[in-house]
Amino acid sequence: MDWLAGAMTWSGDTNPPGRGALVSDLLSLSLACVGEPRQMPLCRLVYASLRGPRSPSDLVKILETSEARNAVEAITGALVLTPDHYLQLLEGERRVVDACYQRICRDPRHSYVGLILFELIDERLFPDWSMSAVDLSEGDGMAPYTEGKEFRPEELPRAVIEQLFRDVAARLRRR
Ligand SMILES: Cc1cc2nc3c(=O)[nH]c(=O)nc-3n(C[C@H](O)[C@H](O)[C@H](O)COP(=O)(O)O)c2cc1C
Repeated sequence: MDWLAGAMTWSGDTNPPGRGALVSDLLSLSLACVGEPRQMPLCRLVYASLRGPRSPSDLVKILETSEARNAVEAITGALVLTPDHYLQLLEGERRVVDACYQRICRDPRHSYVGLILFELIDERLFPDWSMSAVDLSEGDGMAPYTEGKEFRPEELPRAVIEQLFRDVAARLRRR
């Protein structure tokens, strides 16, 4: 109600506005509020989790659910498969991304879900994908990000995570 408080406070050294002026000011302010819905902050969230042994058969269903639901909730992102982990980036309005992450944390199709990165953003990295899977589990798919070591998501520097998802976005654009 800050806008209302502002509209009702008069602090000039001329005569205070008349009642009519105040009412019309309030009316135009409230019309402006109705006409221009406030932009909710966008955020980006990345987590990693351990894939279960059934992950190949789970994946199709997970993607079906994710694409349908994310499209409704304006969530976009990518799901990366590494040899043992899921690494997922979700972006969208903060409230819906948070609720989505809470559901994902409770999902028995994976375990040891851990938050890797959370930030407010101005624009999306994956504006065109409600959810797309990219498989880096084969061969040396993860080599550029692990320097030949075992992949431990919680130890990856932020710059490497960012590079990984920039590469994934570039890959999806080429598809
Ligand atoms: C690795 C993984 C990624 C998932 N990604 C999403 C997603 O991006 N969006 C989504 O709505 N659900 C996703 N899910 C499914 C959710 O965990 C959950 O099953 C689904 O949102 C339905 O939740 P509900 O039954 O509580 O309504 C994912 C699940 C797993 C295991």
